[in-house]
Parts: sequence; C-alpha cells; structure tokens
Amino acid sequence: MLSWFKKKKKKEIHPVDFAEIGLDMHSHLIPSIDDGAKDLQTSIELINALQNHGFKKIITTPHIMTDFYNNSIETIRSGLKTVKEEILKQSIDIKIEAAAEYFVDYDFQQKVLGGEKFLTLGDNYILIEFSFLTAPHNYLETIFQLQLKGYKVILAHAERYPYLSESDLEDFINRGVYLQLNVLSSIGYYSNNVRERANWLIDNNMISFLGTDCHNLNQTKLYDKCKIEPMLSVLLNSGKLLNDQLM
Ligand SMILES: [Fe+2]
Repeated sequence: MLSWFKKKKKKEIHPVDFAEIGLDMHSHLIPSIDDGAKDLQTSIELINALQNHGFKKIITTPHIMTDFYNNSIETIRSGLKTVKEEILKQSIDIKIEAAAEYFVDYDFQQKVLGGEKFLTLGDNYILIEFSFLTAPHNYLETIFQLQLKGYKVILAHAERYPYLSESDLEDFINRGVYLQLNVLSSIGYYSNNVRERANWLIDNNMISFLGTDCHNLNQTKLYDKCKIEPMLSVLLNSGKLLNDQLM
C-alpha cells in the first residue's frame, strides 16, 4: 500500500519545460552595465544557456538604481544593440529585447511624479524592485501614481522581501499589482524562507510572471534542478502565468 502511494506521488511530479513558458522576462544580460554579464562573451554564453533551457524570447532587464547602476534608456538601448549585433553575427536563433528593473527609491519616485517615460515590457508593464532591507517610503503611493499614468506594475521577485507580510502581498494583488517569481527561489537558492514564501504565493495563485533573474553562468547550471521542483510544475499548470502576453 505504502509503495503504491509513493509511486503515485512520484508520478504527479512533471518536470517543467521552459519552452512552455517561451519567454524570460527578468534577467541581467547586457554587458557591464549592472551586476549581471560582465562582458559581451558572458552575455552570449548566458543567452545560449537560456536558449538551451527552452526560452525563445528574452526581455532582459538591467538594474536602474541611482548610486549603483546609474543606467538610462540610452545606456540600455546601446548595450542591447551590441548584444543584438553579436547574436546576428553568431546566428543565434533567439529574440531579445530590453526593458529595465527599476529600484524604488527617492530618485525613482521623483521621476514618477515628474512624468518621466520608463522602459516597459509588452503592453506597458513596468518591472520594479524594492530594497531587501526595508520597505521604500510611500511605496503604495508610488505604485498608485504609476498606475494612474497607465503603467501595469510588476513587483520583481515578490517572494524575496522579508519585511513584506502575507497580507502585504495580498494587498498588492487587490491593488492590481502583478507579482513575479524567480525560478531559483524554488530550490531555496536565496534562503529557505524565500522558498517557503514562493510556495505560499504559488499555492494561493498569486504569481503572474516567472523569470530567471539570471545574473551569471553558475545560476544557469541550477535551472535543471528547479525544473523538477513540484512548485514550478504547479505554477505552470495554474493558468495564471502571463509571460506569453509579452511575446
Ligand atoms: Fe533582477
């Protein structure tokens, strides 16, 4: 009897195929403009790795974070151009675009109020991230201002903020914020607490986007391990993922 149960449980776990998602919407692949790919060769190696894992299209999202990664639409577009030329030269069959991962701080909030134009994914989605240490001042107001300006707000790696409670995350959903989950959170790459939070978010149908948040080659070597994590299989079968809206 016990062995029957064991067999049944094992059968329920289907390895995830990233080709089913098709599109990776969070990564750091533009050379030497943030803490991702350090040079063009690494960019290409990362892109090849993502393609081998099944992705057909990538929207890469360099950090824009005053004081650390002072990027702009221009630095990102120029880096993307270099990467695209190399992809063409090497005949790599993958689509690549760029948006950004906006760090919510005072400077960003000023830009929102000033009506600055932001880089977006698909139909006006903007990817934002918070500090991992403390909640940004007035973040709900910032999100509201972005929404008033017509942006659809995605919170990057929603499972990774230790100061956000489950009810804070439910509040985001009620306010029309889309939550993104990192592939690596499924194996406890960041911490066990993050893994548990990821599981809770998936169980409650709260995740709209899955992204690799790929920064380096070591991370790409762990995706096979992620693919056999039941929580990712549950997420892919949830019918909630909107990655294909960005194709
Ligand atoms: Fe990121």
